[in-house]
Amino acid sequence: MTSGAPDDDDDDDLFGAEEDAEAAAAAPSAPVVVEVPVGDLASFEARLFPFHRDGWEHTGIAVNVEGRFHVYVNRCPHVPYPLDFGDGDVMDTDRSAFFCQNHGARFDLSTGVCFAGPPRGRALERLPFAQVGETLYVTIAPEPPGWPRS
Ligand code: FES
Repeated sequence: MTSGAPDDDDDDDLFGAEEDAEAAAAAPSAPVVVEVPVGDLASFEARLFPFHRDGWEHTGIAVNVEGRFHVYVNRCPHVPYPLDFGDGDVMDTDRSAFFCQNHGARFDLSTGVCFAGPPRGRALERLPFAQVGETLYVTIAPEPPGWPRS
């Protein structure tokens, strides 16, 4: 081309690069896997573990309910604070439920659903995992769109 105007290929390269950059910025962070040892976790005991997602520090909760494990993000669906005050205490006094120290919500251990307190009917965010022996391999999936629901 001799006109001095950019040809179509140049435009495609320019806009293609911008689109690629926008897509990369909008893409959720790739899932990572966190190892959580649970061999010493008795029934109705919970263990907190740290993880990072989208530039934020969080903790997760792994709980043993009569030999079945469940894993959640330690973040209340009422106000997005951890259930504990940094002391790792996320269980009700009788260990039958999770307890949010902020406003007293209680959550079922096996479903994460709140059955008493301000976020009644809403649930803790569940994290998928695979159990291999005495270790849970927890996948830190991207945050669900619109979480927490209000
Ligand atoms: S922040 Fe958990 S009940 Fe309000």
